[in-house]
Amino acid sequence: MEFFEAIHARQSIRKFQDKPVEVDTLMKILEAANRAPSAGNLQAYQIVVVQEPAVKARLDAASGHQGSLAEAPVVLVFCAHPQESATRYGSRGEDLYCIQDATIACAYAQLAATALGLASVWIGAVFEPEMVRDALRLGGSQWPIALLPLGSPAEQPPRQPRRPLQETVRWIASPR
Ligand SMILES: Cc1cc2nc3c(=O)[nH]c(=O)nc-3n(C[C@H](O)[C@H](O)[C@H](O)COP(=O)(O)O)c2cc1C
Repeated sequence: MEFFEAIHARQSIRKFQDKPVEVDTLMKILEAANRAPSAGNLQAYQIVVVQEPAVKARLDAASGHQGSLAEAPVVLVFCAHPQESATRYGSRGEDLYCIQDATIACAYAQLAATALGLASVWIGAVFEPEMVRDALRLGGSQWPIALLPLGSPAEQPPRQPRRPLQETVRWIASPR
């Protein structure tokens, strides 16, 4: 799928078919995430690939039983690594850059998944970080930022509207 087609095709899908994601496809998504920019190229994050149903069920419980995390064949969990970023950037790395690193990687993965014909939804607003940390046995300094269930779509919801550009963009032009 062409780049702008993927941008426009992506929408949140919360119901998934009971169909595995091929390893080759998964690797392409992970390689795309790995190409994302990061502060100082530190890539201060880790992506946990979850396929085990019992662990997906725990992630679902951690996100208020929304359903998509248990249903999808694969869940990618993007975890920021504050200490790694802090080694070079101090508190700014700890509080901001590692979160940006993990977030951008997730955005790349989501678009790559769309381009490969897969559906996903970004789970970030509602989840208990400590429950996710326990389920994944994350090391001391890793924090889950976003969870991305992936799979073949089992629904076609209406597309969500967007605010007009005039509301979200401000131009500062140089005088001619
Ligand atoms: C930071 C962030 C957190 C989100 N958290 C959730 C969530 O917890 N559960 C959910 O179903 N969707 C979640 N979403 C998906 C949004 O609801 C969705 O992207 C938005 O409504 C626009 O719809 P669209 O993705 O179909 O264009 C989240 C998206 C972002 C970027």
